Amino acid sequence: MQSELFKLNLEQLQQFSAAFETAIVTGLGREPSPLKMLPSYLSAPSGNERGTYLALDFGGTNVRVALIELYGNGRYAVIRNREAPLRTNNYDYTAANVDAERLFDFIAGEIAEIAPVGDILLGHTFSFPSRQTDINKAFLISWTKELKTAGVESANITALLMDALKRRGLVNVRPAAVINDTVGTLLTSAYLNPHTDIGSICGTGHNTAYLEPDYFPVPMIINLESGNFDKLALTAYDAKLDAQSEKPGQQLLEKSVSGQYLGELLRLIINDLIKHGHLPALESARLNKPYAITAKDLSLLIEAKPLDLTKTLNASEQAFIQQIAALLGTRSAQLAAATFYGVLRRIDPKVERRHHIAIDGSLYEKMPGYAQTVQATLSALCGSSAATVSAGLIKDGSGVGAAIAAAMAQK
Ligand code: BGC
Repeated sequence: MQSELFKLNLEQLQQFSAAFETAIVTGLGREPSPLKMLPSYLSAPSGNERGTYLALDFGGTNVRVALIELYGNGRYAVIRNREAPLRTNNYDYTAANVDAERLFDFIAGEIAEIAPVGDILLGHTFSFPSRQTDINKAFLISWTKELKTAGVESANITALLMDALKRRGLVNVRPAAVINDTVGTLLTSAYLNPHTDIGSICGTGHNTAYLEPDYFPVPMIINLESGNFDKLALTAYDAKLDAQSEKPGQQLLEKSVSGQYLGELLRLIINDLIKHGHLPALESARLNKPYAITAKDLSLLIEAKPLDLTKTLNASEQAFIQQIAALLGTRSAQLAAATFYGVLRRIDPKVERRHHIAIDGSLYEKMPGYAQTVQATLSALCGSSAATVSAGLIKDGSGVGAAIAAAMAQK
């Protein structure tokens, strides 16, 4: 493998940003575009939203439920919360042999554990591409992140949730808003910082939302579904991963950027290097199992921590794999940053105003060097306007954002 394969120079990143900006404009105009440009029916919060709300966060790995109090003036508290995995050794609610009813009964069971007795509004963060017809109605376009649960694609997500709440006797819990996690991230950051106009997730999945200032009668947060952007040069490894994935041809940017796929890319590369004699055969069963190598393994490799995978290798072979892991992480951060610059160019062509980009997700939070590469790439792309643009981690955005959305819906 030539390491040049995964390296991107400034000119390539500029071209990539420009293509991304073009896709935003064509998508807004309802011309064919890889960007779905999904309206959220929400604008920026005022920061004075108040009250107690239930938040449900369904992102594909865990179900999280929380009781959240918004105090106004950008202040909030998580009063109680709980989290349950969607997959364990005993069950898997993401599998094709599970249907929507069973999945949503599981979710309603989690809500029952923390719901108060009286009437309460619920905000629902549903982190998949969904077409909304209003703030509280979303239809799943298609699963991403390799989920397969039957009967959810094309369905009305709020109706599925309401039916499950009713079956569970939770008629006091009233769904009021449904949002994407990128929208929740943007809302939570904007609740505190009015300069926030972009929200993004760099985690298991990848996607970005932004506040579109002009196209609609009022400013509107748009979920780009940027993970489906397809104007990027794929390596043979990217193409192989895509061909073997659940949805070939879809979510190409996400397949190069997100944590769901980075470990799998590394697995394909290592196997290819072994096949061509550039590495000795490794004694790890994980190399034969799709998706058995994770983004967490990449982080460990980047930090030069010992891993079962590399324990039989000598120092220079280990360094070689470490370098590939770092290249994959760097490419991911650079591509994400280049899309942010494409959005900035759309909303402020000369990037003259102040902008804050709120980012959540395990890669941005935990992968060594990731946040720094996002920042460095943004600075390089923004050039002389770099000082007006900031980016930073926002935690709990999916949950708190759902509460803010429910408060905004109540108005
Ligand atoms: C989904 C997006 C989501 C992102 C981050 C992607 O797979 O399509 O809707 O925002 O993951 O969770």
